[in-house]
Amino acid sequence: MAFKKERRKFVTGLGSWAVGLWLASSRPQRQALAQSNKQCKGAVMKLPPVTMEGMISVEQAIKQRRTVRSYKPKMLHLEQLTKLLWSAQGVTDESRFKRAVPSAGALYPMDIYTVAGQDSVEQINAGVYHYESKKHLLTQVTAQDLRDEVAKAALFQTWMAEAPLNFVITAEYSRVTSKYGKRGVRYARIEAGHIGQNLFLQAEALGLKAGIVGAFHDKKLIDVMKIPRTHEPLLIMPVGYAA
Ligand SMILES: Cc1cc2nc3c(=O)[nH]c(=O)nc-3n(C[C@H](O)[C@H](O)[C@H](O)COP(=O)(O)O)c2cc1C
Repeated sequence: MAFKKERRKFVTGLGSWAVGLWLASSRPQRQALAQSNKQCKGAVMKLPPVTMEGMISVEQAIKQRRTVRSYKPKMLHLEQLTKLLWSAQGVTDESRFKRAVPSAGALYPMDIYTVAGQDSVEQINAGVYHYESKKHLLTQVTAQDLRDEVAKAALFQTWMAEAPLNFVITAEYSRVTSKYGKRGVRYARIEAGHIGQNLFLQAEALGLKAGIVGAFHDKKLIDVMKIPRTHEPLLIMPVGYAA
């Protein structure tokens, strides 16, 4: 809870400053801001708007989707990371704050984290990042490349650490059990499946590949990533260019 309060305070304070600066700035200024984002832990980064163009049909994405376990060490563009985050939890209806995936009672118990290396994504430093759906922001949780540690927590599935990004999908059950009781846990887990498939299909549409990992030690993963204990990790999804 303390973490959440702190994060909210940070986003509404420094965050609004960063957003304003980002929107008002010219390209060189934006590059400078991105550079400063790279310097400090706890940085807030306004993500670019999501464009609606895709390279392949939904049918093609479904047909060619496979769990991939071998990745090139090739850097992703910020736009690719942005589209992946948006597909997982992005706001798709601003007037009602509805999101890319369905959610029982529109209570949205899920959080999306991504674990990056130093050369994983342009303008992004190594670290663990949290996606703030409503503000379309990325906030840095920790500032180290933790992909090896995440793979170790996932029962030493070392192939995962080769992927530029590991998305971690978590559920905070209290947001949904407050209305639905124990059944809310089931609803949140179903929601994780929707997020997973959106990530898979978006990766395909971007010329990337994804994997999916359910075998991991929950507590070890929470400790490694330094995320709140109330955020139960349900899936890890490595994403990058297939080797
Ligand atoms: C909930 C879930 C957990 C999974 N966990 C792992 C895992 O820990 N490691 C792994 O290599 N694959 C994992 N997989 C991937 C499956 O092995 C894979 O989806 C299956 O072999 C079918 O292949 P495809 O995804 O390429 O169609 C998981 C898949 C699901 C849906």
